[in-house]
Amino acid sequence: MGAIAAAAGSAVGLGNIWRFPYIVGEDGGAAFLLLYVFFTIVISIPVLMTEFSLGRMTGQPVTSAFKTLCPGGKWQAIGILGVLTAFLIMSYYNIVSGWTLYYSVASVGGWLEGLSEDQIRQFFINISTDSVSCVVWLILILAATAFIVAKGVSGGIERYSKILMPLLFLLIIVMLVRSVTLSGAAEGLTFYLKPDFSKITPKTVFDALGQSFFSLSIGMGTMTTYGAYIQRTQSLSGLAMRVAAVDFLVAFLAGAVIFPCVFAFGINPGQGQGLVFVTLPNIFNMMPLGRLFSVAFFSLLVVAALTSSISLLEVVVAYIKTSFNMGRRKATVIASALTLLFGVACAFSPTFFYIVDNATANIMMPLGAFFIVIFAGWILPTQKIFDELSIHGTRFKLFRAFCFILRYVVPIVILIIFANGLYCWLA
Ligand code: TRP
Repeated sequence: MGAIAAAAGSAVGLGNIWRFPYIVGEDGGAAFLLLYVFFTIVISIPVLMTEFSLGRMTGQPVTSAFKTLCPGGKWQAIGILGVLTAFLIMSYYNIVSGWTLYYSVASVGGWLEGLSEDQIRQFFINISTDSVSCVVWLILILAATAFIVAKGVSGGIERYSKILMPLLFLLIIVMLVRSVTLSGAAEGLTFYLKPDFSKITPKTVFDALGQSFFSLSIGMGTMTTYGAYIQRTQSLSGLAMRVAAVDFLVAFLAGAVIFPCVFAFGINPGQGQGLVFVTLPNIFNMMPLGRLFSVAFFSLLVVAALTSSISLLEVVVAYIKTSFNMGRRKATVIASALTLLFGVACAFSPTFFYIVDNATANIMMPLGAFFIVIFAGWILPTQKIFDELSIHGTRFKLFRAFCFILRYVVPIVILIIFANGLYCWLA
């Protein structure tokens, strides 16, 4: 149970509730959703199983895992790519956490209450374009994250999040009831659930794979680190499927809350990174006890974001600690200061923010996953992964299919999508 909770805690975050809806909105709805599900089942779950296996096999976090399995090899670079990715994600992720924190404070103050759709949109524009306050909120979030990581007490937060995350889930269900009963909701559900295949473009495909990787935190070795803590008696395939199911459900429901409301209020679904923030306050304004729900929702979202940013910061801190032989506290201070620097750049340049967001999810994470599966499928003796996936002598039945996916499907799909993306970018 602990391992599932920890891995799910890392997976469920702003990626599900903030990023997923905005990407679905940009990429035209249901057709994207189908692609996303397809990639999650065919590509992401096998990659997640592989990462768990590598971690449990060695009992070590990512950089040392590759060192143990392939001494002297260049495969450790996968770990370094992962650290770099974690670092870049943190720089903009914490800005969004900062917005979320600001929205929970604003909800306590009732500043969003009774505003019209237009005013709510303006409210978001005001905060997101005020770079100085973005930095202030960013510093608050970073300080909290750094404090927890420096003290080494993230386990405590995980215990709370085991109670708080189901609460967030319940809240989303309540919001769903309000959202789908708005007049005009049907159009939103059509957009979200009825695929229009003409909307599939190379960009949609690129985004779907990236979002699936981002949401499950794969392709950067984080899940390898969690794998090291999974008990030998647990089935890794079962675990990977359960984590992916929880992660998908949260994202799917977030979308099901947002799109009916987007259409009921005539909001532009493709407006980008502010979508959640300009949509949800409208729902709260139409709910009994809306202010209370708003406070609860945004605060719980801050917790979800924190558990993810803690595990991102841990990746960077662990690397600095071991590579430069440094104490935990010092490593945390250095990592946070560097993050702050990049965070400020993101706060002042929306273009930079957008590029980092896309480059990490769409390029760096698939690239990491590409090397991980090449390593696991072609370099490592197949027997090792097989043993890891079979428990108590029961053979992992789908192993041949799994091997085929690992060796051929995942690398080829990633390469095709990359080539396609490159082609569009150059054209
Ligand atoms: N999956 C996280 C989310 O949905 C974001 C994330 C990506 C992440 N990579 C990670 C979190 C690595 C922790 C570690 O919000």
